[in-house]
Amino acid sequence: MKVFEKIKDIQPYLAALKAEGKSIGFVPTMGALHDGHLQLVKTSVSKNDITVVSIFVNPIQFNNPEDLAKYPRTLEADVDKLAGAGCDIVFSPSENEMYPEPDNTGMEFGGLEKVMEGRFRPGHFRGVGIVVKRLFEITTPDRAYFGEKDYQQLAIIKYMVKNLSIPVEIIPCPIVREADGLAMSSRNMRLTPEHRAMAPEIYKALLRAKENYSWFIPSGLEKLVTTEIEQNPGLKVEYATVADSVTLQPFEDWMDTEHAVLCVAVFAGNVRLIDNIILY
Ligand code: PAJ
Repeated sequence: MKVFEKIKDIQPYLAALKAEGKSIGFVPTMGALHDGHLQLVKTSVSKNDITVVSIFVNPIQFNNPEDLAKYPRTLEADVDKLAGAGCDIVFSPSENEMYPEPDNTGMEFGGLEKVMEGRFRPGHFRGVGIVVKRLFEITTPDRAYFGEKDYQQLAIIKYMVKNLSIPVEIIPCPIVREADGLAMSSRNMRLTPEHRAMAPEIYKALLRAKENYSWFIPSGLEKLVTTEIEQNPGLKVEYATVADSVTLQPFEDWMDTEHAVLCVAVFAGNVRLIDNIILY
């Protein structure tokens, strides 16, 4: 496995592989890798000649400076895990390498960025769009792998690729969970033992919602899920939102859409967790 830090080094290396006709699969990450990330890597390895993984904690997608400062950085362990998962190339640039100048590019995603995470994390998806577009330009992948854990991010990347005619196929991958149901996340390692013990209640509430949604109207289901999660002292719901799973827009009646998703953001102490479930 090769590790690159500089754009000027990785670009010709990948260009030579492409010239040989090799297909490139790409998995963008912010490191602190867990089995959720590694599942994306393994899927890419099974479908492409070359798999490239980027590790870059992207400052411009953090709206909360404390969240950025506390984001776990575990590069050496990450590189070992990636070698074990069959990754061929790691790209781990510095901040200066990715942003030699401040980036003022505007980004909009047809309204997808205005709901849920977008409402509570202003500027977040602009930062995600800018970095993913740059990483695509650097790594020129045939396919790129994204987790359904970040459901709205996936929808926004699909939109961006279509809107800007970027020649890459976006492959969604299912959420990987701990044995007790908690969605794997780099932020889980920041949970106190008490909050870690409570956190699986989030997914349990989502499962109950999926089972019983038809008894409620969408806004009623949102209230129910919020109440159920907040029965656990130490869990605080930032939003619980039912949305059309393609447009991400809210709706009033189950008959209004053929496909719905329920997304939540929950504070477990000061750690912000997100999760979601497809209702139908
Ligand atoms: P990060 O949070 O490191 O996630 C990298 C990829 O792993 C994303 O596509 C995310 O959805 C996926 N992932 C994380 N946890 C997962 C889980 N439990 N199951 C399945 N997939 C999971 O998302 C980002 O980084 C950044 O926003 C990035 C796209 C790299 C841009 O900076």
